Amino acid sequence: MTVSKMAQNLIGSEIIKLAGEVNAMIAKGEQICNLTIGDFDPSLYPIPGELRAGITEAYAEGHTNYPPANGVAVLRKAVVDFTRDRLGLTYPENDILVAGGSRPLIYATYLALVDPGDKVVFPTPSWNNNHYCHLSGATPVMVETSPDNNFMPTAADVAPHLEGATLLALCSPLNPTGTMFSRKDLEEICDLVIAENKTRAEGEKPLYILYDQIYWMLTFGNTEHYDPVNLRPELRDYVIYIDGISKCFAATGVRVGYAFGPTVVMDKMKSILGHVGAWAPKAEQIATARFLHQVDAVDVFLDEFKTQVRESLDVLYEGFKELKNDGYSVDAIEPMGAIYLSAKLDLAGKTTPGGHTLQTSKDISFYILEEAKLAVVPFSAFGSDASLGWFRLSVGGASLDSIQASLGRLRAALQQLN
Ligand SMILES: Cc1ncc(COP(=O)(O)O)c(C=O)c1O
Repeated sequence: MTVSKMAQNLIGSEIIKLAGEVNAMIAKGEQICNLTIGDFDPSLYPIPGELRAGITEAYAEGHTNYPPANGVAVLRKAVVDFTRDRLGLTYPENDILVAGGSRPLIYATYLALVDPGDKVVFPTPSWNNNHYCHLSGATPVMVETSPDNNFMPTAADVAPHLEGATLLALCSPLNPTGTMFSRKDLEEICDLVIAENKTRAEGEKPLYILYDQIYWMLTFGNTEHYDPVNLRPELRDYVIYIDGISKCFAATGVRVGYAFGPTVVMDKMKSILGHVGAWAPKAEQIATARFLHQVDAVDVFLDEFKTQVRESLDVLYEGFKELKNDGYSVDAIEPMGAIYLSAKLDLAGKTTPGGHTLQTSKDISFYILEEAKLAVVPFSAFGSDASLGWFRLSVGGASLDSIQASLGRLRAALQQLN
């Protein structure tokens, strides 16, 4: 063996693998509506102009040296104000930790809390928790959710698994489903965590919640974002929030994320990330601080951005509803937040014109890719069973026109199946 067991058994991102195959087809000149990657095409979804100007300004001002390990003070202060004013959560500057996007913060949460062999409970489908379990040596406990509850976990789903667990990893709005916690479901889960922690002896590690709310500003219609500490303030010592600008400001490549939570955990996360050096570039931090303080610019950006994302999601959703009404074995869940539509292509057992019988969700996604030139990701890439015929359709990388055009091709591909 030439590398560590951890490295040897590491699996790459299934989504990036699939996207690589799609990109190879695009490079060959195929016209594909690519709904695979949870990213934005900057020509369709540029970052806010004020943020872009702020970044070049900060470089011109010479902010090119090391930032402090926990983030520049002006950004941590801006996050305090932003989080208080927009979410009603009050955390001091020293409990805010900034990093190069939110990924290092999720990883640092695992490393700060989880010992090898500890139980980490998370719902499926969900994004990347399996990989963070692997990196930290945690024992993953995956809880299957159901379309009947928009693929969000309920208290009944998680209750049997919390005894002795170290971490419950939750996300809302959820990648890959674009759905969100109802107030009642999240309250009931919070109550389970409170009850579980009451059973733990003095000095025993408590059960924590990792609450990934990276998409919280991207919600549609009357849907409301809920979070554990607003619902149950007594959970404050047990919740680590993951947040940042990647998704809500279409700034995935700018790499500014932040987390907040109990001092004792945040201090350890800061030390871990200090050694890793996973800081956000200093100029980007300063520009983000200035942008977060521009209340009107943030609101104008979010308004236009959400309208654009929602339009694409609605076209897809309506398209799937129409196909369903016309008798095809498809379905979709009304988009609530983020940049994703949950869509069902219930095609297992159907035979293609080439005589091939579709079995797994991977077979289905390849058929749709080949025949409809529509690239989607099966929920099996997010930990769900390969037999589940549900898929993530991500709209940030495709124009409205190309999404509209793909629906006709999808109909033709469905028509050809027996
Ligand atoms: C739920 C969720 N959390 C975190 C991230 C990572 O965000 P970042 O680009 O800030 O590292 C993603 C990215 O896809 C995500 O979907």
